[in-house]
Amino acid sequence: MLRGLFRTKNLDDILATAGGPGFALKRTLGAFNVTLIGIGAIIGAGIFATVGSAAAGDAVAGRPGAGPSLMLSFMITAIVCGFTALCYAELASMVPISGSAYTYSYATMGELIAWIIGWDLIIEYAIGNVAVAISWAEYFHKLLLNLGIDFPHWLAADYRSAMLLAKDDPARYAQMFGDAPVIAGIPIIFNFLAAAIVALITIVLVWGIKESANFNAGMVLVKVLVLLFFIGTALYFVSPGEMAANWRPFQPQGWSGTFAGAALVFFAYIGFDAVSTVAEETKNPARDLPIGIIGSLIVCTIFYVIVAAVFTGLIPFPVLQQVSSSGQAEALTMALDYVAPAGITWPQTIVAAGSVVAHTAVLLVFQLGQPRIFMSMARDGLLPSVFATVHPRFKTPHVTTILTGVFVGGIAAFANIESMLNLTNVGTLFAFLLVCIGIPILRRKDPTRPRPFRVPFGDFLMPILGAASCIFLMYYLAADTWWRFIGWLVLGLSVYLAYGYTRSAIGMKMGRPERTPLPLKIAALGFFSLAVGLFTVPHHIGFAPVFQTAMTPGVENHDRSLYGVLFIVVGLVLGIAGSVMARARQNSGQNG
Ligand code: ALA
Repeated sequence: MLRGLFRTKNLDDILATAGGPGFALKRTLGAFNVTLIGIGAIIGAGIFATVGSAAAGDAVAGRPGAGPSLMLSFMITAIVCGFTALCYAELASMVPISGSAYTYSYATMGELIAWIIGWDLIIEYAIGNVAVAISWAEYFHKLLLNLGIDFPHWLAADYRSAMLLAKDDPARYAQMFGDAPVIAGIPIIFNFLAAAIVALITIVLVWGIKESANFNAGMVLVKVLVLLFFIGTALYFVSPGEMAANWRPFQPQGWSGTFAGAALVFFAYIGFDAVSTVAEETKNPARDLPIGIIGSLIVCTIFYVIVAAVFTGLIPFPVLQQVSSSGQAEALTMALDYVAPAGITWPQTIVAAGSVVAHTAVLLVFQLGQPRIFMSMARDGLLPSVFATVHPRFKTPHVTTILTGVFVGGIAAFANIESMLNLTNVGTLFAFLLVCIGIPILRRKDPTRPRPFRVPFGDFLMPILGAASCIFLMYYLAADTWWRFIGWLVLGLSVYLAYGYTRSAIGMKMGRPERTPLPLKIAALGFFSLAVGLFTVPHHIGFAPVFQTAMTPGVENHDRSLYGVLFIVVGLVLGIAGSVMARARQNSGQNG
């Protein structure tokens, strides 16, 4: 029992499994299309939405703002991503299989780490897309309102945000949500718009990759034009001299503001790695994937730094802080609002429309990537084999595409964007960290395999810099994110022990038991309980206070803390007991 947790998959086997009967995807994409897929994934909610909050900071949460040094924040994050991009490019050129970081880690660090990465990538792709879908809905709704179409707020917001508004500003709540239907005393408020866009994208993706790639290319063109339009209009309204005046002081809240900004705008860069998920649909992956990954990262960095410079040049930092704290979310439109002559609104409407298109392109690429990762995991037996089926006519992984659509659309209808953004950042940085570590390992283990693209400067320098810089950015993320992230990883461990361990293709060859043995069932139950506890405790009060609150009846959050801590304790006891029993059985030579 518990044998082969770190057994790696042979690269030749990986390459042979893909493209087998019933699994082959259509190879239609070239380097240009692949780069466009990268840009399609990168430019989205990050540049259109998070820049305002990154520059202004969040006084309530105690996060300092980057101010004009936001342009530096973007450069810092580009460097962090650059290291990882090189590592991705080497792995993608060497293992051109659609599973991305999941597949690479299976070949380098073994099954358990591969499972953890695959599970973690669900955060990057699916939860990231939940955030983008919510943000899409927000801008689409604004656009509708600007165009005079009065779409109800109760179909375009999440319940929690509405309830916060009800508490803070009852009059405004009544004005916005007063017309919501009420069932059993509870107002019905959900984000129909977010769920609807995910449903539409899912239909496009089941239809086919070629059509989707063309659709993506069109949207990339539109969003690049819109960013250029924003830069041009801003320069028309405000001279470079006036902008330079707003850039002083450059770091109004010091380096911590710049770094906290860098950690937040990391979201804006997520996506260059999504290129690796279309490896099996690329005509010449060894050449086209590195071009697509690094090319899209460079193009987007140039845009981001210019947009950040222009954005922070339009509004003085103190004003920016004031406007951001009033909850106006569409950063670029807000900046134009601030400088446009009274009565001029059409440039803002154009930028808002472009933002909607940019979000749509991101949604498309991530909804495209997630099913392909599920597909790779199913081929390895870690998920049910139905996840790996390809539609006979459309040649797309329709089962996982629809499943992803239901998951993302379902959560987007009810979730709050802020927590989704932070969770995506931490999950993605963790995946990047493991990808960087994988490079030196694979160079040792499989030194002779052709590497059409190699990370420069030896086996260690760049990967270590990449790994260290990912940890650095993780450190600057909101602390409450860690509860959810660790809860998610523990939940994944529970699923692996209960399902994947015994069904794994490698495990079957190694003679693992066919049914999940009792000690593993106990450990799986324990990890499940631990995850429930981690999700239940209040996330904003810190680690030690959670335990204090659980012990003090009558204080705010007492019940949540108490139930959460109980689940955590029971989970730890069962998890440890199951693992110890499994270990004991292994030592006594039984297979359970
Ligand atoms: N980079 C993507 C965006 O900003 C996730 O929307």
